[in-house]
Formats: sequence, C-alpha cells, structure tokens
Amino acid sequence: MQMVDFDSAAFLRDYWQKKPLLIRNPWGNWINPLEPDDLAGLACEEGIESRLVTRKRTKWVLEHGPFPETRFDTMGKAPWTLLVQAVDHHVPDVAALIAPFRFVPNWRIDDVMVSFASDGGGVGPHFDQYDVFLVQGLGRRRWRIGAACDQDTPLLPHDDLRLLADFDATDEWILEPGDMLYVPPGIAHDGVAVGDDCMTYSIGFRAPSRSELVGHWSDHILELLPEDDRYRDGDAQVQDNPGEISPDALAGLHAMMSEALMDRAGFARWFGEYNSMPKYADMDWRPESPVDADDVRSALKSGTPLCRNPASRLSFIRQDVDGLLLFADGRSFACTGASAEFAAILCAQDHVALHADMEASDEVIALIVALCNQGSVAFEDNEEDML
Ligand code: SIN
Ligand code: CO
Repeated sequence: MQMVDFDSAAFLRDYWQKKPLLIRNPWGNWINPLEPDDLAGLACEEGIESRLVTRKRTKWVLEHGPFPETRFDTMGKAPWTLLVQAVDHHVPDVAALIAPFRFVPNWRIDDVMVSFASDGGGVGPHFDQYDVFLVQGLGRRRWRIGAACDQDTPLLPHDDLRLLADFDATDEWILEPGDMLYVPPGIAHDGVAVGDDCMTYSIGFRAPSRSELVGHWSDHILELLPEDDRYRDGDAQVQDNPGEISPDALAGLHAMMSEALMDRAGFARWFGEYNSMPKYADMDWRPESPVDADDVRSALKSGTPLCRNPASRLSFIRQDVDGLLLFADGRSFACTGASAEFAAILCAQDHVALHADMEASDEVIALIVALCNQGSVAFEDNEEDML
C-alpha cells in the first residue's frame, strides 16, 4: 500500500510533532488489510496485548485480554471498542501499512494498534505521549481534536484509563475508509464510531523520556563500574574548616560522575542496543535447531528470500569510514565492507535482496547466521510462522 501525492519532506517540515493534519484518502486504492473476526481472534491469543473498553453511560469499563472466544458473542448494547496492540507483528498486510511511513527512522517506529468499535464506541478523550497516524480501515469514525495537554492537565479519576476531565474540541471530522488523521504528541483527541464495524489502524511512534534515558543508561553504567574506581584526594591541603566540602573535592566528584555518564561512544552502543530490544516476546522466529554457515549458503544459493521478522527492531549507527554498528533486537554487530552494506540494506528493506559480493562474503554469512539464530531474520520458508 503506497500513499499517492504525499510529500513526506513537507509533512516533516510543517506538521510532524507540530500540528494535526487530516488527509482524505491518500491511498490510490484503499483496501482494509484485516477482517474484524481475525482481530477478535488475535485478542483471544496469549501473549498478544488487547483491551476492551465499554462505555456504560458515564462509566468507562476496561477489561484486559486475552479474551475467551465466547466474550464477543454477547457484547450488549453499551458502546464498546476492542484494541489490539502490535498487530503488524502477526499480520503481514498490517505490517505493510508501516511502509509509507518509513520516512520516519526505524528507531522511532513503535507498532500498529488496531481497534474495532460498535456504534458510539471509543476510548474517550485523551492524549498520548507519542505521534500517531490514525488510518480509518472500515466504517466511519468522528474524530475531534482539542488543546495541547501536559502532565498538569486534569484527568478523570479512573484507575486504568487516562481520560481528560475537560475536552473542548477545536476541530472535528468524520473519517471514511482510507482517510487518515495525524495527531502529534500531547494533543487531546477523541474518536467515536459512527455506526457499527468501525475499524481504525494507529501507526504509533515512540520517543524515550529523559527520565527513561537517564535511568536506564545509568543502570547500564553501574553494571560496568568497578568498586575500586573511587574518589581520591589530589594534593590535599589543610582546610580552614573541616566541615567544608571544598570546591576541588566537588570538582573531582563531579568529574567522576560526568566522565562516566558522558561516554559518547558507550552511550551510542548502549542506546542502539536498548532501543532495539523487542517489546513483546511473541514472535519467536528462532529456528528449532541453530543454523550454520552451510545452511545459510545453501538457502541463498537456492534463491530463498531472506525476510525480517516483523517484530524485530533493526537500526544502525555509522562508524569509521565504511563501517557501522548494526542493532538487532537488543544486540549489536560491528560491520565493515560487504557486511556493512548488507546491514544497511537489511535496515531499509523488509525483504532483503543480497548482492553477489555479499553472498561471497564470510562476514555476511556469519552475520546472517547470527541474525537467523536470534530470530531477527529467516529465509522465507518460515514466513508462514508470521500468521
Ligand atoms: C482508537 O483507535 O480508538 C484509539 C486510537 C487513539 O486514540 O490513539
Ligand atoms: Co490516542
């Protein structure tokens, strides 16, 4: 599925992280990629995150999946919506919805959540911390958007749902199949199904919070720091007042702390690994028994396509002249020459077409072996596992 007449550079300049944008059917020919029954089926599976939100008059009720299949037989009259997270990990046609948004780097992409609502169903007025493209799949939904919110914005008292206490719409639209609404982080929004069979795809992004970065990076450093790396007095002087922590001592202490935290190369490696950690352990593509270089060579020789696990997170940073550090599902791989070329292609394409020089490279073969054995890629014979 491609978007026609969508200028991604202009979008990034004028709207991304700035203001909402409604785009009426940007697809040449919109085809809803998932049947409602299949979504309900996913919500019954162990290891898939799903929620059911029902609005009973003014009361919002939240249930967590997995649901028994019979749960959807008797839904009652109150408006409800079913939400299933990371559907792209399980349904290739839903994963294909991400492709047009690849103008945003891999490391910022989260997953595709899919909702299905009865007439009047929705999750209530709220704001998210992340950018989202809301693509109307089936049926119609009235979207209203409101003001920018932050941590001080009043919320309704509810244990699980973060619903806005006050919501004043500044704009509203009814989205038809194929229509799309971009909502930046922090902007209040509320989507209500107009009629039954309302299906919405949320292509969601992520951005680490400063507290998450500082917390996890310092946890990582803590694991590396030895006990005997300690403060030492330089040329100690007699102090006028023994109660003072002298400026020299403070400077030394502060330097100890900041030198450890400021390790730029260490941070880059750690961040790439941390950011590429899989969110759900549900898509285990690891082979039953580990593959070796001969297996990979013969799969390549027979022309079997190499595919990325749709749940895998892949990205890289450039290093030295022709090298890069590839991050795949929490691990890093230093690559140069042909393997760097291969890693760059792997990060850019769902189905990886290897050039002849890559197939001839032992380094590339070794990298594919490692990636296969950790389940980040597989030769296409395994693709049915995705479903
Ligand atoms: C929905 O699909 O109903 C909710 C999506 C959202 O508001 O983020
Ligand atoms: Co939202």
